[in-house]
Amino acid sequence: MQNICLIIGAGAGVGGNVAKVFANDGYHVYLTRRSDESGLKKLIDTINASGGKASGKLMNAIKDNTIEDLIHEVEKDLGPISVVVYNLGAQIGNKKLEDLTLKQFDLGLKMGTVGIFRLSKILFPYMVKRGGGTLIATSSTASVRGNRGQHSHAAAMGARRMLCQTLNDEFSIKGIHIVHAIIDGAVDAPDTLGKMLGPEAYEKLRKEVGLEKDGLILPEKIAESYLYLTKQHRSAWTHEIDFRAFSDQPWWNTATDNYNF
Ligand SMILES: NC(=O)c1ccc[n+]([C@@H]2O[C@H](COP(=O)([O-])OP(=O)(O)OC[C@H]3O[C@@H](n4cnc5c(N)ncnc54)[C@H](OP(=O)(O)O)[C@@H]3O)[C@@H](O)[C@H]2O)c1
Repeated sequence: MQNICLIIGAGAGVGGNVAKVFANDGYHVYLTRRSDESGLKKLIDTINASGGKASGKLMNAIKDNTIEDLIHEVEKDLGPISVVVYNLGAQIGNKKLEDLTLKQFDLGLKMGTVGIFRLSKILFPYMVKRGGGTLIATSSTASVRGNRGQHSHAAAMGARRMLCQTLNDEFSIKGIHIVHAIIDGAVDAPDTLGKMLGPEAYEKLRKEVGLEKDGLILPEKIAESYLYLTKQHRSAWTHEIDFRAFSDQPWWNTATDNYNF
């Protein structure tokens, strides 16, 4: 029976690179993302052309029943999901409280935390029945530190962290390995950071600190660590991990006065 790795939020950054690395390790990877059909097809075709197995579909994870239906579908049509990477962020840029709407705040929670709750409710009974499985939640600095302008993002990601800890407490003993992965810095990710900054600022940042300078976290390197996490012995599981470029200050040391308002 083939191992399935399901990726919710597979753009060209962390999600897509997880797909490539896990496919290379023999997993059938199932990719979902919200909107970019040609981006999704490109990733799937690249993996299949290099001898891996990949499939997937577009899906807006915040819509009712999408995550639930997806899990039942993959389990029934493809096989048992042994690894799931929940890779949706909840970043909407820095906003003062007066500029943040309730709808945006609510959207952050849906993407940041509610999605993991919905996923776990449906997938964990399958995994428990089989005696094991892995959930890796890609997270961010905002999960451990509130910052100016980050009301929505920090609330959503902080709640994500607490949900992962609580799920761990109940399901670790049942064989499910849950990892909260804190990405503490900017990732060289064209579909998220790239779109948020715009093409010019993104390329400038890449030239100034990224590329051969290695000051932007390379998503393929995060993906390699994710694969390693799935292979850990249960006597020494990692439940939380953080990633940051060698040249960056860690979240607990970074000054917060470098924002525009
Ligand atoms: N990029 C960074 O600098 C950075 C920094 C710190 C933490 N992180 C964390 O890294 C994770 C994202 O990884 P990444 O930045 O490398 O991005 P990525 O894997 O390249 O792409 C993530 C994908 O998630 C999809 N997505 C967003 N909302 C969705 C929804 N409602 N339903 C389904 N799919 C949805 C987007 O698809 P579409 O493009 O099709 O809309 C996007 O392409 C997040 O958890 C984020 O918190 C990223």
